[in-house]
Amino acid sequence: MSNVVVNNKTFQPFISSQKIDQRIKEMGNQIDNDYAGKRPLFIAILNGSFMFASDLFKSISIEAEICFIKLASYKGTSSTGNLITSIGLDESLVNRHVVIIEDIIDTGNTLHQFLPQIHNQQPASLKIAALLNKPTAMKYPIAIDYLGFSVPDKFLLGFGLDFDGLGRNLSQIYQLVNE
Ligand code: IMP
Ligand code: MG
Repeated sequence: MSNVVVNNKTFQPFISSQKIDQRIKEMGNQIDNDYAGKRPLFIAILNGSFMFASDLFKSISIEAEICFIKLASYKGTSSTGNLITSIGLDESLVNRHVVIIEDIIDTGNTLHQFLPQIHNQQPASLKIAALLNKPTAMKYPIAIDYLGFSVPDKFLLGFGLDFDGLGRNLSQIYQLVNE
């Protein structure tokens, strides 16, 4: 497979679509086993996770629901930093078995700020499924219950992940080539 150029940066193939498919099927099987009879509610975080969420959800055969939210972070002028609010979470989470679907957990900042909002709604349980994690970049200790791949702290592209809005449509995952 060849390199791609997006916004004048070069990216090289990193995880093939076959490997991604296979790993997502394994994650789906694991979730099937863990959640049989529990009718889990998946909450996919847009934009990046849409492709992973779609494939993961197709690989699940038990009764399950899915909804999508968008997280908006605002640069605060005060020292409290970023405030993250969710848009589109209409479902009641009370007594539901919730599984958050994320594309990649990098610093962990997004989930560190967002998870308390979910906890406040008193779900029966709360787990996290992420396709990718950069363990050396993590600043907050987020326990990832279902992880696709652990990756080095390099910028990735494709399979939903973007670089300035582009590259989400690539069916495999690419890594930035250092120049
Ligand atoms: P975190 O809050 O630092 O954990 O990162 C959250 C978000 O940053 C992810 O959900 C992605 O949308 C984005 N992100 C982190 N690393 C990458 C990457 O390597 N490529 C593209 N987007 C990324
Ligand atoms: Mg994201």
